[in-house]
Amino acid sequence: MSAVNATRTVLLGIETSCDETAASVVARRPDGSFEVVSSVVSSQIDLHARYGGVVPEVASRAHIERINPVVAEAMREAGLQLGEVDAVAATVGPGLVGSLLVGVSAAKALSLVWGVPFVGVNHLEAHLFAPLLEDPGVAFPLLVLLVSGGHTMLLGMDRPGGYRLLGRTVDDAAGEAFDKVARYLGLGYPGGPVIDRLALEGNPTAIAFPRSMLHDGLDFSFSGLKTSVVNHVRRHPDVAAADVAASFQEAVVDVLVHKARLAAAQLGAAGMSLAGGVAANTRLRARWLAAGEADGRRAHLPSLAYCTDNAAMVAAAGLWRLAEQGPSALDCGVDPNLSLTPAV
Ligand code: KG4
Ligand code: ZN
Repeated sequence: MSAVNATRTVLLGIETSCDETAASVVARRPDGSFEVVSSVVSSQIDLHARYGGVVPEVASRAHIERINPVVAEAMREAGLQLGEVDAVAATVGPGLVGSLLVGVSAAKALSLVWGVPFVGVNHLEAHLFAPLLEDPGVAFPLLVLLVSGGHTMLLGMDRPGGYRLLGRTVDDAAGEAFDKVARYLGLGYPGGPVIDRLALEGNPTAIAFPRSMLHDGLDFSFSGLKTSVVNHVRRHPDVAAADVAASFQEAVVDVLVHKARLAAAQLGAAGMSLAGGVAANTRLRARWLAAGEADGRRAHLPSLAYCTDNAAMVAAAGLWRLAEQGPSALDCGVDPNLSLTPAV
């Protein structure tokens, strides 16, 4: 039985840009909506935790060991025999060069062996497809706050493929701030989920950490906040870690939500969506919904599994690119510094 039929296109997506080895089968229906048929993520967190961050050499070796079993599992979960897809996509950047090469090489090999097209996908664009995976009714223009370990951006999305950069961090990414503060507090890696959990037991108003508004433009800065946390804990060694976590998180979320609302108003956005790993944050998600309600905009919250790195979002972006622009050349390389648009 072939997966190719008149009603939908089925694509295998592969994601290996950082420390998750992931594969997913997604179908695109004729109306442009998506169906996630399978999604497998093998996290390397345990391997990197003892180093307090991702070690590139360890990451690429682990991807090499895991890529074939992860792809096989994604195909099995989808009920497909090897080769029963219409195309294969992989993240070509941005990310760690050794990690990217593993996924891209695997995808190109499968494309050759199976005789189906290969599509190179931008990891940042893939994150923007997370809200579209689950909600075919997303209205444009959409304001997207993309917050991950490497990026913090406010983007205006006029349609898939049409992006405008409205604001970005001038120093640390939001996820990086969570990771650095957690490491300083001795909470382990990655810091976001630990601070999120610990903050539930703390008082978000216990410590008045600074909110860096950079004169109310749409750019962000988080390095001063990180320094304030370090200085506060040095001066008050007995402070409750839960209060530090809750107060730090509140300071980050205040700035993110404040600037997103400004950007959405400036854009005349019909809706607003979160994307990226930090979009899994419980407090940010609650404040996002409240902001949408207060401003009369539809607030989109992708499922947690589609916020942090995964291959379903890569497959969706690949399906869209394939339909709009056709396949990528098999001699295309990886680009660790790939940007979303020429301006980003
Ligand atoms: O998108 P992602 O999985 O990988 C990158 O492309 O960077 O994002 C990872 C980042 C890490 O910095 C992690 O600490 C953060 O997302 N993160 C969170 C939460 N879950 C993951 N930050 C805050 N709260 C969370 N619940
Ligand atoms: Zn990511």
